[in-house]
Amino acid sequence: MNQVTFIVLGATGDLCKRKLIPAIYKLIENKKLDLFAFIGVSFDQTNTEEILQNSKKFISKIDNKLWNKLEKASYYHQLDFYNKQGYKALHDSIVNVEKKHNLNGNRIFYLATIPKHFKEITKNLNENKIISKHQSESNCSMCKHPWARIVYEKPFGSDFTSAKQINNCIKKSFHENQIYRIDHYLGKELVSNISLVRFTNRIFEPLWNNKNIESVQIILKEKIGLEGRGNFYNKYGAIKDVIQNHMLQILSLIAMEQPKKLEAKYIRNAKAKVLKNVKFKDAVLGQYKEFTKEKGVDPKSNTETFAALNLEIKNKRWAGVPFYLKTGKYLDKKDTSVHIKFKMVKCLLTKGCPTDSNYLTLKINPDQGFFLELNIKDPENINTIMPIQMNFCHSCLFGPNTPEAYEHLLLNVINGDQSAFVRSDEIEHSWKIVEQIKKGKFKLFKYEKNSSGPEQANKLNGKGIRWRS
Ligand code: BG6
Repeated sequence: MNQVTFIVLGATGDLCKRKLIPAIYKLIENKKLDLFAFIGVSFDQTNTEEILQNSKKFISKIDNKLWNKLEKASYYHQLDFYNKQGYKALHDSIVNVEKKHNLNGNRIFYLATIPKHFKEITKNLNENKIISKHQSESNCSMCKHPWARIVYEKPFGSDFTSAKQINNCIKKSFHENQIYRIDHYLGKELVSNISLVRFTNRIFEPLWNNKNIESVQIILKEKIGLEGRGNFYNKYGAIKDVIQNHMLQILSLIAMEQPKKLEAKYIRNAKAKVLKNVKFKDAVLGQYKEFTKEKGVDPKSNTETFAALNLEIKNKRWAGVPFYLKTGKYLDKKDTSVHIKFKMVKCLLTKGCPTDSNYLTLKINPDQGFFLELNIKDPENINTIMPIQMNFCHSCLFGPNTPEAYEHLLLNVINGDQSAFVRSDEIEHSWKIVEQIKKGKFKLFKYEKNSSGPEQANKLNGKGIRWRS
């Protein structure tokens, strides 16, 4: 029986409203929670009703009976995260709610706050014995003893030093297998399929190396802008906002060696090894024209809203294969995808050789699926080769309603499965990569909204690039 108390710190923030409460509602709807309670915690003066109401419009279809169930098990507790005395009252509230709802004391603490508060909250939760350090039984929803797990939302720090400090602090308070560092991309259906597709199909692994692969593109294009987060984005920019986490996580899943088993420990070992060996080669950075006029943004800001990178992985499998990454705000379309370009075959035809090599494209967002581009004979013309796509469309096969990333991830926390969460060493290696890039001091190219970014991004490390999106 799944039973848990969700304690969300930062309950008046955007994440709780847009993602966490909807995810809890979906877990109820999909019968994944037998007994539960939700306690929202923040500094603000508000109440349970307001918190739930604000979230309602982010849930597609509401069943009143299920919504009532959520309402009856929801509470709000006001707390100044820096007032040590306040944590005793929080503990009392949690215990009372658990008694009232016959809960056994399984707890998920979700830190949906900015990273600046992580250390203080961690220390106070631990010192007040709200969570104690214990080696929780892994992979279990029905452990013998109640468990407490703590989830840290991204961004995890703002640079290598701050991430390391947070890691050191939380390691003193909790065991690594109680700690869940979120990267919501790891909860996306197609991202969680990368290692499965690679290692459960015989056809990929023999080709997955520098003998057969010419280059890899990882693209995360966004049509939207700052969405009211000018202040945050001005400090972070594209590299820290999405490359340090989402895009490097995708890269590590694409590039990792075959793990001993497809389990958290081995997957995370393999990913960390890749990230440790990533070397930065070149970048083109951009900023959309109106960025410095946005609310919360410094009028002289040099923050990038676009980045195109050339990275390399220093190991035997990938030596010489460029990994190209591209991301940006206000681009021509929303598209997250990975494009594996295979090397050209030797042409055995006297005329009409293939114009392009094979590609494996993984579509992550908004379309989900993958396709393989192959060359075949043009039925109309002898000796003419044409490219075709073998296409797998996820929603065509499984329907449009795959679980949202946060629903997936919360369920993983309940089940004690850390395979889709980022370990301390992965986070630190990723921030080290960001440090390499930041040393570059690159010129910032302006670009128009709704464009594909600055045209300078079509060349990296002196080589022209044909971006696939
Ligand atoms: C977040 C970034 O982590 O990811 C946002 O902070 C970005 O700036 C978002 O828009 C993209 O996620 P998704 O799931 O919409 O592709």
